[in-house]
Amino acid sequence: MSNSTAHPPVRTPVVSTMSDPSIKVMVELRELHKIYESGANAVHALRGLNVDIPEGQYIAIMGASGSGKSTLLNVLGALDVPTKGSFKIAGRLTSQLSKDELAALRNEYIGFIFQNFNLLARSTAIENCELPMIYAGVPTKKRREAALAALEKVHLSDRGKHLPSELSGGQQQRVAIARSLVNNPRVLLADEPTGNLDSHTSAEILKIMAQLHEVEKLTIILVTHDPGVATAAERVIILKDGRIIYDKPTPRRGGPEVPDVRALSMQEI
Ligand SMILES: Nc1ncnc2c1ncn2[C@@H]1O[C@H](COP(=O)(O)OP(=O)(O)OP(=O)(O)O)[C@@H](O)[C@H]1O
Ligand SMILES: [Mg+2]
Repeated sequence: MSNSTAHPPVRTPVVSTMSDPSIKVMVELRELHKIYESGANAVHALRGLNVDIPEGQYIAIMGASGSGKSTLLNVLGALDVPTKGSFKIAGRLTSQLSKDELAALRNEYIGFIFQNFNLLARSTAIENCELPMIYAGVPTKKRREAALAALEKVHLSDRGKHLPSELSGGQQQRVAIARSLVNNPRVLLADEPTGNLDSHTSAEILKIMAQLHEVEKLTIILVTHDPGVATAAERVIILKDGRIIYDKPTPRRGGPEVPDVRALSMQEI
């Protein structure tokens, strides 16, 4: 056991990019740790994160493989619980919520997009979009209307009756985005959403994300390895070994060029 008096935890400074005090904080992390206990080996995946994300911010999370990006996203999406520290979303301390309350909060506030789209292969685009609403208990007619409206937002109204196998990769990701939108979330969490797509198709997806940010005012938290993708965001956080080693605005918010974590050694950042 380490002696916490002799070795106080290294504190990551809280970086706030809020310029308008009237903007609410959507996500607040304080000294957040995640430890996976797997057999004899514990993996300390997140090590004391302190982050404020204002409502409506578009933020990219970068870092080498294994640095904790997906773990962080899973905690932010209330799919997993932190081991230590606090996580507030929309002002609510998640540790004080029951399992059902947490599921309700997830349904109400959060939409997910994944690298491999995670669509049901035997269901049409419309049926895939209806799925989160079935869990939320929305009646059939309303489900259909909301699914069609969401497909329209991603410019896929004409593909509603197609199966995923009948759609291109970019179209499948657009269906996944539409599905993430049907419960009108306030926060969109995306884990490498363009990781399986070519650059032209990635650009299409980024355009949709930008629209969701600008028009729908969604808070977007996007994991990527690609500095070009991260540049579309307003702020970049880089993780290394479960700690934040970089937290700065992107050039369009007055910050420096987004570093290429694939090419640079972390000491150079
Ligand atoms: N369910 C789990 N049980 C045990 N260890 C895990 C689990 N999930 C992740 N880890 C470990 O936690 C650390 C962080 O993993 P995580 O998936 O968050 O990384 P990542 O930054 O998303 O990587 P990648 O870029 O490869 O997706 C890694 O060391 C990983 O092996
Ligand atoms: Mg990952």
